[in-house]
Amino acid sequence: MKLEKYVDSLPILPVLQPTSMCDDKLYYEITMRECRQQLHRDLPPTTIWGYNGLYPGPTIKAHSNIPILVCWKNELPTTHLLPVDTTVHGAFSDVPQVRTVVHLHGAVTYDSSDGYPDAWFTNDFQTVGPAFETKVYQYPNTQPATNLWYHDHAIGITRLNIYAGLAGFYEIHDQLEQSLPLPKEPYDIPLLVQDRSFNEDGSLYYPAQPEKPVEGVNPSVVAEFFGDTNLVNGKVWPYMEVEPKRYRFRILNGSNGRTYCLSLSGAIPFVQIGTDQGLLEKPVITKELVIAPAERVDVVIDFTSLAGHSLELINTAPAPFPNGDPPCEATTGRVMKWIVNQPLHRKDCSYIPPCLTRIPVYQESFASRERLLTLDMVKDRFDRELHLLDNKTWSEPISELPELGTFEIWSFINTTGDMHPIHLHLVRFQVLDRQPYNTDYFKETGIIQVSGSKRSPDLNEQGFKDTVRANPDEITRVIFWTGPYTGRYVWHCHILEHEDYEMMRPYIVIQ
Ligand code: C2O
Ligand code: CU
Repeated sequence: MKLEKYVDSLPILPVLQPTSMCDDKLYYEITMRECRQQLHRDLPPTTIWGYNGLYPGPTIKAHSNIPILVCWKNELPTTHLLPVDTTVHGAFSDVPQVRTVVHLHGAVTYDSSDGYPDAWFTNDFQTVGPAFETKVYQYPNTQPATNLWYHDHAIGITRLNIYAGLAGFYEIHDQLEQSLPLPKEPYDIPLLVQDRSFNEDGSLYYPAQPEKPVEGVNPSVVAEFFGDTNLVNGKVWPYMEVEPKRYRFRILNGSNGRTYCLSLSGAIPFVQIGTDQGLLEKPVITKELVIAPAERVDVVIDFTSLAGHSLELINTAPAPFPNGDPPCEATTGRVMKWIVNQPLHRKDCSYIPPCLTRIPVYQESFASRERLLTLDMVKDRFDRELHLLDNKTWSEPISELPELGTFEIWSFINTTGDMHPIHLHLVRFQVLDRQPYNTDYFKETGIIQVSGSKRSPDLNEQGFKDTVRANPDEITRVIFWTGPYTGRYVWHCHILEHEDYEMMRPYIVIQ
């Protein structure tokens, strides 16, 4: 289906207001509902699943060190909108088809509020998963200003629930960030970038089979999904009319499988000021932003001298990343457009200070333990791709038990041909380095033979992160402090088809 680009204006996402106070804490209620929403001028309304019936969900704005409570409710139908594969762990036919649980990605919170994949619940909490503990989640917000996002995390169907629309922003603000002369509202805008495909009737298209259909399994999980259109804030290829001034954009890649490499037409640079877990120490000027699923980049775009011009947001990343096909110039290679045609409202007094924050450097020597963890691809009993972490499935005994208050280094040895964005719940990490190694030799012998020197993380990765790109033929090392809570969390690849199909493992923070 051919959809025209830049015919719908960019939706500005509503901010959610708390419903009451409870135990001295702001209390929010969010209900997942099925709704119809127009995602493009020429598409019939699309049935989506949204938080409060909205895709994307409403933005929660929290303040550092002010805890909030959220009651997540499910009023979704009992049959799924999209094809469920009942051979996938946790989605067998012995559980309700529509299950939800909400994870606040990048948040520091108690394990009972973290959205453990088995802590799912159905409509009106009629049935709950084995790990379900509480209806009301607590978010302490004990972390600096940053852009988090909430999304579904139900075991075995996360890819479908998020694809149906279950994702939204959660901003944390703090005094330091607010004191900086950066562009402020309404010139500070979150952008959720996602790819989707549609059927003629406007419904979401998600494959029920891989390209080469699987015998004996229908529907079947696919290795990864790539849509043929790009949406920002729930509109296909939107445009935005802007003033000739600086704007701040908090960009999140919320796609199932697609990595973006974003650039601006006319070779206009981005100034990146923040990453997954908050501000960078210094702004980084860059013409390209590589953003894997779940990664966030906080950037300023300067339209000051561009009055009368327009700017396209371009994607050049191959899919799968980095060795797949390049995007199509007319479709997946385009994301959105800015038209600088609005009168300047007020003189732009914003600027980007040369120093944004202070970031303590985690030294390799802090670590009391280093774990070598492989990222693997094997074949399942139906000859489908099956991705594993450290060659283990989700239900094998828990093997990662970092001790509260200690530093650990996790080394991801990618033995596959694709990049995997690896995400750890609870902790924020720093990327230590990436080093090429001989993959074939390692797969034959189990011996690591490095084939080049260690590379520092990119300048725009030199802050705190919660999701890291582990490239093929490389060993990617991250270091983190374990805490501040004990309990059971997960770590996984954030390509949702991988996460759902065994590329996820529990881990326990022990005392
Ligand atoms: Cu954004 Cu465990 O996920
Ligand atoms: Cu993966």
